[in-house]
Amino acid sequence: MSQMPAKGSSVLIATMVGLFAIAVVGGLLIGKRSTPKNPTLEQSSSRGPFLYQGMCASCHGPEGRGDGVSAQNLKSAPRDFSLRPWKTLIDLPSIKKVIVDGIPGTVMPGIKNALAEPDLDALAKHVLKLADQNPSPTMKVFSKTDQLAIDAGFVLVANSSAPLLQLEDEQGNKSKLSDYKDKTVMLHFWGVQCPHCLKEMQSLLELEKSFQEKSFVMLHVCTDEDDAKVAQQIASKYALGIKIVIETSGIGLARYEVQSLPAFWLIGSGGRTLARSVGTKDWASSSCKSFIANQILK
Ligand code: HEC
Repeated sequence: MSQMPAKGSSVLIATMVGLFAIAVVGGLLIGKRSTPKNPTLEQSSSRGPFLYQGMCASCHGPEGRGDGVSAQNLKSAPRDFSLRPWKTLIDLPSIKKVIVDGIPGTVMPGIKNALAEPDLDALAKHVLKLADQNPSPTMKVFSKTDQLAIDAGFVLVANSSAPLLQLEDEQGNKSKLSDYKDKTVMLHFWGVQCPHCLKEMQSLLELEKSFQEKSFVMLHVCTDEDDAKVAQQIASKYALGIKIVIETSGIGLARYEVQSLPAFWLIGSGGRTLARSVGTKDWASSSCKSFIANQILK
């Protein structure tokens, strides 16, 4: 799907930029014409949805489900606002910032100063409302895997090739993520300066042990300590017997979009991405165990 000839993609980008410009200018014109001097409550509460439909729905979809008419042609999918994780915090100031600045390196455009503050506010409030709705009924019929993922707090991701990771343990043994191609890998990104990461180390180790007979491996990748010995020492204090690694290429973490800790990715055998999640969990729960067991079978 993403293998498009270079010519096609530049035409596509030009089309997207064009569409967006029309959306912004259109939004502005409509904005100028119809902003009432004293908006009644009803009018002002419809302002956000109105701006959203004009400026954002072509990509994010009419209900914010990430299924706008242009969405299919984009290299990175527009956010389905109802799903987690987001890259930013889900609150008004952060949403406003994303609307103004866009997300550099993606097709998510920034509108700069195209909207006056009250309009920006109304638009951001509407996005927040869309973010608050129940997780995606776009997947109209939930498969068993979808349901297991939701229960466990994971989001299934597009099955694509897992980014490279170069790892090293406390003894200086080097390995790569691709060395585990025949297994299901759970990447656990943690930090020595992340207290809640340390707190759940023991329960993660137990989860790891409960699957050790299967073709499953958990890689505990420390993200904030360059010295593997130091990181290992700290981890061992919380979970005796755990084996940690550090990432040495320096670019691996960005490729996994690790922005807050702990973060998790499941990589299926063959090195394909399956699911991701952010935040601590009750790893002893049956929902987490069933979800991971279900992923190992694949
Ligand atoms: C050209 C298509 C396009 C348009 C138009 C567009 N977006 Fe996006 N948007 C995206 C894509 C793609 C992403 C996901 C980028 C990524 O993280 O890879 C995104 C991400 C976002 C996010 C998620 C930020 C996060 O932290 O994850 C928000 C919020 C957002 N858009 C709001 C808007 C709003 C509001 C508008 C209208 C003013 C808008 N977008 C218009 C494509 C678009």
